[in-house]
Amino acid sequence: MEVTEKAPAKINLTLDALYKREDGYHELEMVMTSVDLADRVTVRSIEENKIVIRTNSGVLPLDRRNHAYQAARLMKKTFEIDTGVEIMIEKNIPIAAGLAGGSSDAAATLRGLNKLWKLNLSLDEVAVLGEQVGSDVPFCVYGRTALVTGRGEKIQPLGEIPQCWVVLVKPRVGVSTGTVFNVLSFDDLVHPDTAGMVQAIKEQDYVKMTQSVGNVLEHVTIERHPDIERIKTKMLTFGADAALMSGSGPTIFALCSKYSRAQRVYNGLKGFCKEVYLVRTLK
Ligand code: C5P
Repeated sequence: MEVTEKAPAKINLTLDALYKREDGYHELEMVMTSVDLADRVTVRSIEENKIVIRTNSGVLPLDRRNHAYQAARLMKKTFEIDTGVEIMIEKNIPIAAGLAGGSSDAAATLRGLNKLWKLNLSLDEVAVLGEQVGSDVPFCVYGRTALVTGRGEKIQPLGEIPQCWVVLVKPRVGVSTGTVFNVLSFDDLVHPDTAGMVQAIKEQDYVKMTQSVGNVLEHVTIERHPDIERIKTKMLTFGADAALMSGSGPTIFALCSKYSRAQRVYNGLKGFCKEVYLVRTLK
C-alpha cells in the first residue's frame, strides 16, 4: 500500500518578529498562503525496518538532515511502529529558498504516514507533531491561508485570499534561516501591517492586500544578497502589484491580478534568473 500527498510551497504575505524569546526562537506574526508549486511525497511500506528516502533531486540530503526523514522517525518513535517506510520525494520546490519546501515535505510525510499506518490522528494532532520537526511544519500540515503566531505553531485559518497570479524568482544563493534570524536587530525595525493584511483578506480587498505586504527579514538578506533588491525593482517595473521576499529568502514573489501582467513579469525576469515560476495562489 502507498499514499501520495501533495506538498505545496508557501509564501509570506507578511512576516513580523515581535521579540527574541528566552528559548532563542523569535515570537512571530505572519500571514502565510500556499501557492500552486508543489512537491509530491509518496510513502509506502517496506519490509526492512528502516526509513529510506528517494528523490529525483540531485541535491537533497537523504539522511537525518532531511525534514521528511525526521518526520518519519518521529512518527515511528511516537507510535512504536516497527515496519519500514520508503519516502519518495518528487521535488519541484527550490531548496533553501524561503518557500518551506522541506517543511512541506515533512508535513506531507506526517499526513501520509497517518493514513498508511491508520493512526487516525486529527490534523491538529499531526500539526503538534510537526512542531517538533520545524517551525514552519504546523502551517504546512494545513496549508491554505493562515495567521501564524508563536514560534510558528499557532495557526488561525483565514479565508481565501483574493485570487491572483504569483511569480516566484529564486536567486542562485541559498539562505540559512537560523543565520538570518541571528543577525536580525530590533533597532529601526519597520513592522509590517499584519492587522491590515488580515482585514484585506477578510474584505477580499486585493489592492489593500498588495499594500500590506512586508517582511522584517528582507533587509537582512538583501544586505548579504543585493540582487534581491534589483529583482524586486524589476518585478515592479514590469508591472507587478507587489514584490516581496518570502520567509528568510532568497526567493522573491510578485503578485499580479492579471495573467498578462504576470506573464510580462515572468518573461522579464526569466532573462536574469534561471529559476522563475508563474503559479496561482491555492484555493
Ligand atoms: O524551527 P526551525 O528549525 O525551522 O528554525 C530554524 C532556525 O530559525 C532556528 O534555529 C532559529 O534560529 C530560527 N527561528 C527563530 N524563530 C522562529 C523560527 C525559527 O529564531 N520562530
